[in-house]
Amino acid sequence: MNVNQIFEMMDYGKAPEASDEAMKWIASFKGQFGHFINGAFTKPEGLFPSINPATTQELAKISHASKKTVSTAVKAAREAQPAWASLGGHGRSRVLYSIARLLQKQSRLFATLETLDNGKPIRESRDIDIPLAQRHFYYHAGMAQLMEKSLPGRKALGVCGQIIPWNFPLLMLAWKIAPALAMGNTVVLKPAEYTSLTALLFGEICQQAGVPKGVVNIVTGDGRTGELIVSDPNIDKIAFTGSTTVGRKIREATAGTSKSLTLELGGKSPFIVFDDADLDSAVEGVVDGIWLNQGQVCCAGSRLLVQEGVAKKFLNKIKSRMKTLRLGNPMDKSIDIGAIVDPVQKARISQLLYDNPNGEIYQITEGIPETGCYFPPTLISGLGTADTLMQEEIFGPVLVSTTFRTPDEAAKLANDTRYGLAASIWSENVNLCLGLAPKIKAGVVWVNGTNMFDASAGFGGMRESGFGREGGWEGLEAYTKPNIGADKKLEPILKQSGENEGISRLDRTAKLYIGGKQSRPDSGYSYSIFGAKSQFMGHAPRANRKDIRNALEAADSADQWSETHGHIRAQILYYIAENLSTRSEEFAKLINKMTGRKNGQKEVKASIARLFTYAAWADKFDGDVRNVPMRGLALKLNEPVGKIGVICSDDWPLLGLISTMAAGMSMGNRMIMIASEPYPLVATEFYQILDTSDVPKGVVSILTGFHSELCTTLARHMNLDAIWSFSSKDLSETIEHGSALNLKRSWVNYGFDRDWMGDSGEGNEFLNAATEIKTVWIPFGEG
Ligand code: NAI
Repeated sequence: MNVNQIFEMMDYGKAPEASDEAMKWIASFKGQFGHFINGAFTKPEGLFPSINPATTQELAKISHASKKTVSTAVKAAREAQPAWASLGGHGRSRVLYSIARLLQKQSRLFATLETLDNGKPIRESRDIDIPLAQRHFYYHAGMAQLMEKSLPGRKALGVCGQIIPWNFPLLMLAWKIAPALAMGNTVVLKPAEYTSLTALLFGEICQQAGVPKGVVNIVTGDGRTGELIVSDPNIDKIAFTGSTTVGRKIREATAGTSKSLTLELGGKSPFIVFDDADLDSAVEGVVDGIWLNQGQVCCAGSRLLVQEGVAKKFLNKIKSRMKTLRLGNPMDKSIDIGAIVDPVQKARISQLLYDNPNGEIYQITEGIPETGCYFPPTLISGLGTADTLMQEEIFGPVLVSTTFRTPDEAAKLANDTRYGLAASIWSENVNLCLGLAPKIKAGVVWVNGTNMFDASAGFGGMRESGFGREGGWEGLEAYTKPNIGADKKLEPILKQSGENEGISRLDRTAKLYIGGKQSRPDSGYSYSIFGAKSQFMGHAPRANRKDIRNALEAADSADQWSETHGHIRAQILYYIAENLSTRSEEFAKLINKMTGRKNGQKEVKASIARLFTYAAWADKFDGDVRNVPMRGLALKLNEPVGKIGVICSDDWPLLGLISTMAAGMSMGNRMIMIASEPYPLVATEFYQILDTSDVPKGVVSILTGFHSELCTTLARHMNLDAIWSFSSKDLSETIEHGSALNLKRSWVNYGFDRDWMGDSGEGNEFLNAATEIKTVWIPFGEG
């Protein structure tokens, strides 16, 4: 072939990356790997094969960790933790920096090993996975250095169990290990069974970087090993990335154990294209959004929503572009689409497509290697929103699409999913994009772009995409806890609860407060309330699931509250404080009479102060701009969580109610408050204050009744976004278990007390729980 002919074809030649260094490294272990525990590799046990999906040939044999092995790793991590934490921020920073440097020095080995093991194009391992993994260690070396000064009052959680998937093996390891180590935790990490090799190579990096023994432990195995980590009683935190099904199981398995938990789960992220978008750029966005890593990306832009007027044109452009995608040996540097991670995953994708009767399927099968685990890039158009393929995560190179007419419809379709991980919006009208971004329920929104990530920008989901963020300052929340002494265990207050007094039929009684109105409980039952001197003080309604449903419906119709400006919310909170202060004597007396204490006045005063605190925060708990390596902005926005159910403190009937209600309201949430069970009459008086303070209907509902009954309904309710419990009954297990259904965020006390009058009764912990972080990426500039 002469130069002219080459010029005519403009075809790429083959540019294979050499695999010999990676194969040599595997051979240095004789192809059989043990675990990395307490700074050394163990003898192999229960070996299973790990394949190269591009060839389906065995690459190496990996150990399957037994219960004993997992315990040994956890023990090593436990023993190493105090010294690692007390090494101090600077000491840890030096170690993390050293890891980052070594990853950089070994980047080619890591990239080739990753591609051999996972099947992703070498171009992606080399240019995305490995550099981003390094960046995470550099960034968190800085966080370790800054921790003492910048995060006063926070300390390490202890031992973290980390379970990661196979789609970004080293990168997910870096996302998990770097912040954990920076904050003084030690880790036991399990890579996915298909892709363990770079995690094991990372073990060697730890040895060379001077990571103290036991600080990083890597155990390999499949889901059973994962279960052993999750159930190990000596682990303080579980961080999981993977499928929603397994995430839900982990939520259930950890319920009530007081293990801290973050879940980064699946998605069905919308890729929204408006008719004024730069369609050619948007096509390249689609290529990146759904064909990066063969679509095996949790935040893949797998659901294309195109404005009707340009739908045909745009789909044709995508089809033309699909013809130029190069599929084949992932070790070839000019390949766009490599192999699917494992035959099991390929079969899963095939089955989903096989079961789908709808839409028009367009596939490019040309050039697919005859052997190896490949799946053709696929576009399915003309699907209805309820079709399985529009709803289920396919986790493969399959793009599904439908059309919309208006921005409102785009928002509705975008949110018509149980997930909430990411979204991509394409339009030349930045007003339109920035107007839509807050309406989409997703942790990350990319404007005229997709798949932008950085260690300084939080990443994570809402709804069934999980909770917790990785990256940025917010990512450190998940690896630290407040540095306060042990709280005292709460005892249920039984004497005055009336629970033992039998149920009386409803007569004249306090009512529930739902949708701005007083209402009788659906059950028609109330319970008797006795004062400190056993005097009968009245009846409190006994709310049931229908009352909760009504309260949630009222909250739904008050969704405007979430969009009001902080200034307005502050005014209302100040107004509540003002109205409460005019009746402070009366409330103080009521509290004293019910509780038998003499601190009613103090409690009312503190409640008024707390209303002022959250009125103050309403327009000041700001987001910020992150310094990401891009020409543009990455905005960290604090958004309301939505509808929060709170089971209030029993012991502090007014302060407990107000501290949580005001925190939630100030951030724009709608609150379903379950009053103190033994002292509910304070709350039923309090709603009169709400009535006179311009609180919009449905923003706050106040229910009374038995905590143990109501918590189950609240926790399992699919229409509730978060649940908090400060009850003196330990409802943590029921709540965490129930919340697994829609993976709502939960914040429970595990039966421990909180100093409501002191510092831990207010502040960032409350504000963080009342907000959801959204990162909006806005690249800018012409050319
Ligand atoms: P998976 O969720 O089963 O595996 C992820 C990790 O969890 C692996 O390390 C696995 O060994 C571990 N694991 C599995 N069962 C466990 C258990 N009961 N307890 C603790 N750990 C457990 O994902 P899988 O089966 O590999 O893929 C299935 C589907 O999940 C994919 O088709 C895709 O839809 C989704 N997925 C989503 C990911 C994401 O990043 N959102 C990543 C991987 C898979």
